[in-house]
Amino acid sequence: MTRPRIVAVDGPAGSGKSSICATVCKDLGWSYVNTGALYRAIGLLAMDRDVSLVDGPHLKKILDEFSETVRWEHEKAKLYVGMDDFTPRLNSVEAGNSASFVAKMPMVRDALMPLQRKLSLSAPRGAIVDGRDIGTVIFPDADIKIFMTASLEQRARRRLKQLETSGTSTDLSHDDIMRAIALRDDQDSQRDSAPMRKADDAIVFDTSDMDIDQAIASLKDLIRSKGLA
Ligand code: DC
Repeated sequence: MTRPRIVAVDGPAGSGKSSICATVCKDLGWSYVNTGALYRAIGLLAMDRDVSLVDGPHLKKILDEFSETVRWEHEKAKLYVGMDDFTPRLNSVEAGNSASFVAKMPMVRDALMPLQRKLSLSAPRGAIVDGRDIGTVIFPDADIKIFMTASLEQRARRRLKQLETSGTSTDLSHDDIMRAIALRDDQDSQRDSAPMRKADDAIVFDTSDMDIDQAIASLKDLIRSKGLA
């Protein structure tokens, strides 16, 4: 059986990965797999159940149950745990912070690795898979690897707008968000387990000076130029 085309997109928070990749997938009829959502869902499940993020045995239980019951709706980019739609809660600041914490743990990364591969390889045609270690660890054999980035200033502006438009209440200022993103960048790139880094053969895709439509068009051109769509 032939496997779907896989485009691996890594990069820091707020570089535009999720909005750009989701629309490109819709336009190409591909599936979008947002792996950050899986880490966020684990963080939320731990919070819902009052499980401390350093409580290994209970976290392991959550991971086992999650792997059995998670459902990723490719077309709508929705994440369900059992019957519960977690999508509306995934973008909260708390979900992001707890995701970044659990993402440091090898136990969590090991449990989510086969899930990320399974969800991506079940795509009928092609999948864009975004995260931090997709080109380096999850799909080192991806058809294209992209490292998507943007200036810290621009990323903070976008994250604030995203919080506002998603109706997530926040009293954080632009500077607060900039500091939080810089801290997240540090945590994601300095951890021992699968740190965020550009794969040697990844193409750098800097969206600082692009608006969303330009970035979408440019990513589609790139995928088509490689004969993948
Ligand atoms: O992309 P995001 O902001 O939704 O990711 C949430 C956190 O999960 C972020 O701190 C990095 C981590 N993450 C990761 O370590 N590996 C991935 N493949 C995806 C996300």
